[in-house]
Amino acid sequence: MAETREKTKIAVVLAAGQGTRMKSDLPKVLHPLLGEPMATYPVRALEEAGVGQILMVLGKGADQVEQALSGRIVPVYQEEQLGTGHALLMALPKLQVYQDSGGGECLVTYGDTPLIKGETLERLSEARAEAGAAAAILTAKPDDPAGLGRIIRAEDGSVAAIVEDRDADESQKIVNEINAGAFAFDIAWLAKALENLKPNNAQGEYYLTDAIAWLIGQGQKVASYCTPSPEEGLGVNDRLQLSRAQDILRRRILERHMLNGVTIEEPSATIIGPFVEIGRDTVVETGCQIFGHSVIGEACAVGPRCRIIDCRIGDGTKINQTTALECEIGALCDIGPFAYMRPGCVLADKVKVGAFVEMKLSSVGTGTKVPHLSYVGDSSLGSGANIGAGTITCNYDGVDHHQTIIGDGAFIGSNSNLVAPVVIGEGAYTAAGSTITQDVPPFSLGIARGRQSNIIDWRKRK
Ligand code: UD1
Ligand code: CA
Repeated sequence: MAETREKTKIAVVLAAGQGTRMKSDLPKVLHPLLGEPMATYPVRALEEAGVGQILMVLGKGADQVEQALSGRIVPVYQEEQLGTGHALLMALPKLQVYQDSGGGECLVTYGDTPLIKGETLERLSEARAEAGAAAAILTAKPDDPAGLGRIIRAEDGSVAAIVEDRDADESQKIVNEINAGAFAFDIAWLAKALENLKPNNAQGEYYLTDAIAWLIGQGQKVASYCTPSPEEGLGVNDRLQLSRAQDILRRRILERHMLNGVTIEEPSATIIGPFVEIGRDTVVETGCQIFGHSVIGEACAVGPRCRIIDCRIGDGTKINQTTALECEIGALCDIGPFAYMRPGCVLADKVKVGAFVEMKLSSVGTGTKVPHLSYVGDSSLGSGANIGAGTITCNYDGVDHHQTIIGDGAFIGSNSNLVAPVVIGEGAYTAAGSTITQDVPPFSLGIARGRQSNIIDWRKRK
């Protein structure tokens, strides 16, 4: 509609419910799906549908939810959870300000229906506009409608009411078209409908769904849009539904990557978050979890069994059985197996981080190798350096962390302890088994270990 095109669109997400059936201390909408809190899904769908202002009705754990979605929502508080209609009523003053400044429509979604897509919300809005209706309901026809609000239609096929599962009689219970959890409302009519809601139902709550029959009673039209993908109607009320929702989201995301040219070796054992980007010809082997805003380049080999969160990985890099968190890894690197890349590592190209290496808050120059059994923390490694097996940067004195700096082309002998702060100059060596406590000048050898003496024929004399 012209009025909604001219203004930033507005929407309300209802997310104040107790989430009792989750049996959890965590607010329901913060339970993660593919590593992201559930509430990010309805918010993202609304953003994709072009909504610029999202009000979210919050109750339990409001602070935590606000923090998780900071900057993306405007909070509205519902102190007592008296039902979905009451929740929306809490947002009404802000909607009326919006209406007074020339806005007409408001989209409403629930915080616990994470499978609804942005494009579906656009179709819903269009359905209302085309019908010139006061409201439009998103409906779905799942195999099992149990627990959901049923769409009751008049003989001419138009929407007559939504009846909640608990209030439905036998003839209504067999209806398989349900309220999927999204509405488009004309704000002026919504305001009137909400003010007229009564808690006359099995739960004694103010049901948003009762607004529909009321509008029809006022001679208003209510349109509907039935989604062609019934899974969009899945609401998450308990952990079983949480796991079903995650499975559907997971498959959707994997399909998108596969169609973009990424090989997913074993889809049933791969979890990729919604914001992850992966380049073509990359192969993701079995058992990987890739979350956050990770960006993986082209022709990489990832896995088996990697956990990667918020990392950037360049083209052609191999990363095998490794945990990598908030790291930047260049192109053509070779990581793992069994490396632990903790936050703040920045690796240039062609770096090797081998088996049983832990690295934290360190930068590594091009072509440098840390092949085996090392701890590298708070360090800066130049390019072309070789860090021998078992090298440990002793970065922590029990109070503070200190820096280790290793120059280009340096060679750290196996089993060196580098007691920070310490600088190993360009091209310098440390002798195997040294505990280096002083800087080693460029192109010099640092040796710090007891001299060996042999006691000849010692064994024979015993
Ligand atoms: C609701 C719908 C049902 C629909 C189903 C879709 C109503 C009355 N029923 O049922 O028709 O088929 O969702 O999944 O709307 N909330 C508040 N404040 C409250 C109560 C709820 O903000 O006082 C929020 C909840 O946090 C939740 C959403 O509204 O995100 C839906 O509430 P819930 O109790 O889960 O409703 P359902 O029984 O699933
Ligand atoms: Ca629900």
